[in-house]
Amino acid sequence: MGLRWLFVFFHLLLFCLLPVLGSADAQGMQTYIVQLRPREAGSSGDQAMLASKMHWHLSFLEKSVPWEGEEKRPSSRLLYSYHTVFDGFAAQLSEEEAAALRELPGVASVRADRRVELHTTYSYKFLGLNFCPTGAWARSGFGGGTIIGVLDTGVWPENPSFDDRGMPPVPARWQGVCQGGEHFNATNCNRKLIGARFYSKGHRANYPTNPSDAVSLMEYVPPAGASVAGASVLGVGAGEARGVAPAAHVAAYKVCWFNGCYSSDILAGMDDAVRDGVDVLSLSLGGFPIPLFEDSIAIGSFRATLRGVSVVCAAGNNGPSPSSVANEAPWVITVGAATLDRRFPAYVRLGNGRILYGESMYPGKVDLKNGGKELELVYAAGGTREEMYCIKGALPAAAFAGKMVVCDRGITGRADKGEAVKEAGGAAMILANSEINQQEDSVDAHVLPSTLIGYREAVELKNYISSTQRPVAKIVFGGTRIGRARAPAVALFSARGPSLTNPSVLKPDVIAPGVNIIAAWPGNLGPSGLEDDGRRSNFTVLSGTSMACPHVSGIAALIRSAHPSWSPAMIRSAIMTTADVTDRQGKPIMDGDGGKADAYAMGAGHVNPARAVDPGLVYDIDPADYVTHLCTLGYTHMEIFKISHAGVNCTAVLQRNAGFSLNYPSMSVAFKTNATSAVLQRTVTNVGTPNSTYTAHVAAPHGVKVRVSPTALTFSEFGEKKSFRVTLDAPAPRDNAEGYLVWKQSGGQGKHRVRSPIAVTWVVD
Ligand SMILES: *[C@@H]1O[C@H](CO)[C@@H](O)[C@H](O)[C@H]1NC(C)=O
Ligand SMILES: *[C@@H]1O[C@H](CO)[C@@H](O)[C@H](O)[C@H]1NC(C)=O
Ligand SMILES: *[C@@H]1O[C@H](CO)[C@@H](O)[C@H](O)[C@H]1NC(C)=O
Ligand SMILES: *[C@@H]1O[C@H](CO)[C@@H](O)[C@H](O)[C@H]1NC(C)=O
Ligand SMILES: *[C@@H]1O[C@H](CO)[C@@H](O)[C@H](O)[C@H]1NC(C)=O
Repeated sequence: MGLRWLFVFFHLLLFCLLPVLGSADAQGMQTYIVQLRPREAGSSGDQAMLASKMHWHLSFLEKSVPWEGEEKRPSSRLLYSYHTVFDGFAAQLSEEEAAALRELPGVASVRADRRVELHTTYSYKFLGLNFCPTGAWARSGFGGGTIIGVLDTGVWPENPSFDDRGMPPVPARWQGVCQGGEHFNATNCNRKLIGARFYSKGHRANYPTNPSDAVSLMEYVPPAGASVAGASVLGVGAGEARGVAPAAHVAAYKVCWFNGCYSSDILAGMDDAVRDGVDVLSLSLGGFPIPLFEDSIAIGSFRATLRGVSVVCAAGNNGPSPSSVANEAPWVITVGAATLDRRFPAYVRLGNGRILYGESMYPGKVDLKNGGKELELVYAAGGTREEMYCIKGALPAAAFAGKMVVCDRGITGRADKGEAVKEAGGAAMILANSEINQQEDSVDAHVLPSTLIGYREAVELKNYISSTQRPVAKIVFGGTRIGRARAPAVALFSARGPSLTNPSVLKPDVIAPGVNIIAAWPGNLGPSGLEDDGRRSNFTVLSGTSMACPHVSGIAALIRSAHPSWSPAMIRSAIMTTADVTDRQGKPIMDGDGGKADAYAMGAGHVNPARAVDPGLVYDIDPADYVTHLCTLGYTHMEIFKISHAGVNCTAVLQRNAGFSLNYPSMSVAFKTNATSAVLQRTVTNVGTPNSTYTAHVAAPHGVKVRVSPTALTFSEFGEKKSFRVTLDAPAPRDNAEGYLVWKQSGGQGKHRVRSPIAVTWVVD
């Protein structure tokens, strides 16, 4: 166990340091994001105001950057001037210039740019949505009229997922544009893909030349793609690729490039998206947890939320380490990844007759029934680390040519290992999970016949190889299998709580399908790995919380379309309190293969869109309450300012709001060392039936006494609000524990169940 965490820690460390090490250019110049104190109020969108803001931003550069002639005017350092979700700009500065800028009056903060990572045919059926016209999907209008802004690697417009047949017209309020680029024609936008913009200045500042990643829009995973009959990765996984909200419009903001996504670009994309008029912002990207006031995504999404935009973010793929969850701001929806009930078996038949279970999606021409040839197995057990992990350029062709190569998972990408083996002349590959990966199965499309086996199988395979004179094996492909034993389950890689920056809000909020998702992919531009004798697929299979995020964005669009007046907090509440905590077999959702998933792994549970459009009660939050909440966390005036762009006197706020707790749909309590009791205030709004009564049902966390008061809530009107109190008594510190509170509707139409997980942890102060 200790070793495993050490290993995870090492990886975290590596990723955390890389961006810092690689960001300054030859002249010692670096991108900084400069936040200013607001000058005056003005309606954003007004061109005169935008121009005057830009002048204002430039005036700061003129005061801090030396004038070096007409060619090198200070204004040439400006990358972006932000207007909508952020007050400030991004510029190329030396360390000295940044320091000078920091001292100027009117400057709130100067932060170095930060690099973060980019963290479907079948999933919509799995989520219980279908074309039955009485279903929730039909009632919600398939998300029609809503606009989802997607910040990621961009779009590939010829993809049939962007066919706009049957789409409603573009909403008149839409202010966005369709920007042309090297591989993207502005005429490619239609009623489905209504806007496209790209942002590369932050990226270019770090990687000035890169011919292979043309400045254009491409690559896309649809959150709301149109339906594509028979979409499949070269025949495997045939089904129908469809977004969760097929009638929602999509606007693409390409902020990620071949080696990641820069905060300065992300902020520019968010700034435009909110001004363009998106209803939902989908961010399938993020880094490691950092304080909210240093996190551009958290800061940008705060103002987006104020303007009524739902912001949906991927939780990150750094699980199963505890406290790995990123994008944990209480105003966003944080999404973890779950498995689907679909498998792609590719068994390994050893020379001794043993069959090991594995999964793969090799798109090549292999006889699916009889599999490939029996090949000699090779594993560089005594070799270098590079050989064991099959790192490109490190494999001795002499030893690997024509063989089935066993590669340990880790260090490099799974598809990269396949390419490395192919380069060295290997004929097939077995990817072997390490102890950290356990039985996790992430299927990829590889360039050569290959399969991925779990840790248990890997141990058996390596024993066989080391104890056999001429070990041989073949891979037997089994096509697509629906009906997995236990699904959904939390994906092992899905990032976990408790949140480091704020354990009093449970994160992630929910989980959604994020493993082996069949997604749209550029047919003519994508990375190699999808080639098959010149034929390329328009779809591939991908895993990650970045795949789970668009699902929830689609559900948010569905709810928004059904309830246009709902706030982002109401939409999130609907998604959370209706989430499933049991799997297809009716048993508790599992965490990988390793036991029951806890609330830090799955939040409120697995999204259930059919229920989410009709939640009965919702927990709404006035955006001002987020500021009060930050005051309760002990954030300083300046730290809160960096998030809200507004001054606050926490002493006064806390005096006015004694006993305040954020009206969050889940309940998380972090007991301090000597505290034994906590009181949570909550208010629910009736959005179900006018005359209704709900009663409280509680399962207390182990070692904690929970009292709910009152225990029944009676509503006589639609929109009516009722408050209640939850008191938790914990006489002695113990391990993390969890329970739940469910408000159950009673009476004739008593179908609503409004569930909140209760998570309890103890923090050392
Ligand atoms: C863009 O599309 C239009 C209409 O199809 C065509 O006339 C134009 O040449 C295209 N431009 C580029 C750069 O491909
Ligand atoms: C991918 O899409 C393009 C453009 O729509 C189409 O011409 C091509 O046949 C598709 N490829 C496959 C393998 O379906
Ligand atoms: C903040 O509010 C408190 C209580 O109302 C008051 O005593 C204090 O002077 C205020 N501080 C500032 C800086 O305004
Ligand atoms: C907790 O209580 C003990 C005994 O009353 C006391 O010695 C200790 O300082 C307290 N710790 C904190 C953090 O308040
Ligand atoms: C709700 O109950 C009240 C009082 O019993 C009654 O007057 C009213 O008509 C009811 N409303 C609905 C929609 O049933």
